[in-house]
Amino acid sequence: MSLYVIGDLHLHFKAALNPASVQAWHKMWKNHEEKFKKNAERFIREEDTLVLAGDHTWGRNLQECEPDFQYIRDLPGRKILLRGNHDMFWDAKKTRRLNEQFAPDLHFLQDNYFTYRDYALTGTKGYTFEGPFYVDRRGRITGWDEKEEEHAKKLVKREMERLRISFEEAEKDGYRKFIMFLHYPPTNILEKDSPFTRIAEEYKVEQVIYAHCHGEARFHDSIIGEKNGIRYRLASGDFLQWTPMKILD
Ligand SMILES: [Fe+2]
Ligand SMILES: [Fe+2]
Repeated sequence: MSLYVIGDLHLHFKAALNPASVQAWHKMWKNHEEKFKKNAERFIREEDTLVLAGDHTWGRNLQECEPDFQYIRDLPGRKILLRGNHDMFWDAKKTRRLNEQFAPDLHFLQDNYFTYRDYALTGTKGYTFEGPFYVDRRGRITGWDEKEEEHAKKLVKREMERLRISFEEAEKDGYRKFIMFLHYPPTNILEKDSPFTRIAEEYKVEQVIYAHCHGEARFHDSIIGEKNGIRYRLASGDFLQWTPMKILD
């Protein structure tokens, strides 16, 4: 039995793809659905669990997403979905309804937790301030949009409340070992730590898995590797070259 993760599948079997987007022209995204399906079938067995770390689809509502959901249903293993910033079909407050509607095929991680062996899988979308940043001629950051930053702080606070619910639910049920999932990276390009890294340390989580950073220029926006006893791993699909990443046996 193994636990796998990947994020940012950005499926678009029905939704129209923005022709100006990177996904429309970059070779990494060419037939990425087929590449991932092949790799998933090669590595993941029915008894395994696959966490999809957000940005599942370009569909704007459940109807537009249906072929994308069908693709996900057809992947091997138990599927747990995390909310990404592009998942317009998913109203965080209506997660319970999604879980009822898609049971037993798909599981939605929000204000709840799932288990894997003796671990609790906790998580939320998260949020990080992504600018705009102002740079000088040498590309050094000299400032940023402070109004946007203020707005970002509010979103971080809300996401932290949601993440805390996930941990508290798991702890109430006796879980003491945690893997924490975020869609956004835990820190932005200016930060060494954040409320997300601090809660990970508070609960002594073993691994923090995040996605969202795609395109080579973004792969190192946040923490990768060991920090304060926690292993941070990026799981965006193009970073993983459409191969699911095993995070636990
Ligand atoms: Fe994405
Ligand atoms: Fe994203």
